[in-house]
Amino acid sequence: MIETSPQAQRRSRVLVVDDHESIRMLFQRLLTVDGHEVFSAEDGAAALEAVARHQPDVILLDVAMPTIDGLEVCRRLKSDVATRLTPVVLVTGQAGLSDRLRGLEAGADEILEKPVHPNELRARVRSLLRVKYLIDALDSAEAAFMALALTIEARDPMTNGHCERLAKHAVRLGRALGVCDEDLDALHRGAYLHDLGKVGVPDHVLLKEGPLTRDEFDVMKQHPVIGDNLCAPLQSLKRVRPIIRSHHERLDGSGYPDGLRGDAIPLLAQIVGVVDVFDALTSRRPYRGPLTPQDAARHLLEEVEQGRMSRKYVDAFLEILCLGGVGAVH
Ligand SMILES: [Fe+2]
Repeated sequence: MIETSPQAQRRSRVLVVDDHESIRMLFQRLLTVDGHEVFSAEDGAAALEAVARHQPDVILLDVAMPTIDGLEVCRRLKSDVATRLTPVVLVTGQAGLSDRLRGLEAGADEILEKPVHPNELRARVRSLLRVKYLIDALDSAEAAFMALALTIEARDPMTNGHCERLAKHAVRLGRALGVCDEDLDALHRGAYLHDLGKVGVPDHVLLKEGPLTRDEFDVMKQHPVIGDNLCAPLQSLKRVRPIIRSHHERLDGSGYPDGLRGDAIPLLAQIVGVVDVFDALTSRRPYRGPLTPQDAARHLLEEVEQGRMSRKYVDAFLEILCLGGVGAVH
């Protein structure tokens, strides 16, 4: 039976990597009979190229190969955002405890010992494809949220390009502050999704030209909660949700929606908060022109003076923008 993704209705793609042609042929024959589209590569370098070209759903990877061995290929795939969720099966002639541990440390999802029984190989591929399809389904939900976030941005012509600029600056600031790769990834996605909850804010409030009334601001203040609730069912957005919920919190407790103070505000939300304010100030509004970068920098330093933003984060951000010499307004 052909294993197909319910979403894509396409044949599943399997990449077989082995330096022995006989094994490549054997696996290819077995898996083609099961209806999979099978690609093959004869060494590690060719495997990495084939992954980029064919985007396989499952990878069967020989461990002992010349130049780049299977463990190294696995490590590289699992550290790349584009491929880290693709299941990898290490196929090895040596599957003692230490070999298995090395394979698992490299990030392998399964380890099979040669000679592999054909039925076991087919069963493992089928079960990993089910995992891959679940991951793809979650990815699709996230992609839909991303599209929605950009649609919301497009509702307001004044904020055009805001998410993209925010993503670029938030990742640069995160990198300067030494956050880990997973958090840099969360910053990138969080920058796009931070205002997702504005989907629940009516146009007459969201697009109002001029200051909001108290009641209108109360409605606007719900957008972090709405966005967080929308993303709650998605495990893939676990690291992104604190950014969505807390990007308007301020260190002195004057922010919203939870009035968090100091270290209780997640670090990534503080980073997006700093960059978000800067971008808003330097963008045109219906009731005012864009501030110069220097004036926006002075405003951020004022926030620091008032105890609302972290001096460390604001200084690092202004350093990135070459605005480190600007003084606060008093
Ligand atoms: Fe916001």
